[in-house]
Amino acid sequence: MITEKVISSKPPHILVFDSGVGGLSIVEAVKKAHPSYRLTYASDNAQFPYGTKSESVLIERVERVLSTLQEEIAADIILVACNTASTLVLPKIRSHFTQPIIGVVPAIKPAAEMSKNKTIGLLATPGTVERQYTKELIKDFAHECDVISVGSSELVLLAEQKLQNKPVSLAVLTSITAPFRDTQNRPDTIVLACTHFPLLKEELQLVLPNITYWVDSGEAIARRVQFWVNKLNLVTENTLATASSSANGVSIFTKQTAETELIKPTLNQLNLGLVHYTEVS
Ligand code: DGL
Repeated sequence: MITEKVISSKPPHILVFDSGVGGLSIVEAVKKAHPSYRLTYASDNAQFPYGTKSESVLIERVERVLSTLQEEIAADIILVACNTASTLVLPKIRSHFTQPIIGVVPAIKPAAEMSKNKTIGLLATPGTVERQYTKELIKDFAHECDVISVGSSELVLLAEQKLQNKPVSLAVLTSITAPFRDTQNRPDTIVLACTHFPLLKEELQLVLPNITYWVDSGEAIARRVQFWVNKLNLVTENTLATASSSANGVSIFTKQTAETELIKPTLNQLNLGLVHYTEVS
């Protein structure tokens, strides 16, 4: 029997979703690995930040926003590029959508493997630090490590400001990261467990010069995207030949604000400069 692969003439279409601009760090990693894939970036900036919201509010909101967006764009794969949301909503939304859902969760396991002094700093939003999911990751994969957790929404705001071309205060970064310094047992490894934080990696390296390993989820997520693209037979040589010239990325925001205007240069650089607004009530 001859089995035929489904030939798609369009590049795989991936919806990358976050509360704000943090998911752009995941976009960078996915684009680097798969420059021809079609990405739509979506930010629920109307409800930003997620890190201080209650679990019940978030569960309901993320499902509603993703449903609205999928009705509009019908992407092949949904990538929840937000640790705060992923550590909470994945089971619910996986049961709701037929498309594969890729989540971004704290990279505790690789960090525990890398750390030489078995002391890890976990830098996340207050929500992610408190999640049962995160506590279980630590119990399962880092039980031999000391884990120092810092939950900061201020750091999320600083990352947003950086992409709006505003200055980032190193003094504020120094004070946010003090728990990693003010301890006898200092971490040699930091997990950037919020997608906003890789956007501040250079600044964080300046205030924490003794950290050996900085761990984020970008490359692992790019591999996961490839896994699903293969599994769904979304890519063919034909697709790859035509995609790079036609891949014009779009960004969707749930609210038009002065800030969305300020981040357009960054969106343009990532080829996501075609901006739409979709309100979700
Ligand atoms: N970028 C998000 C994360 O990965 C959350 C930021 C927020 O809205 O608090 O956790």
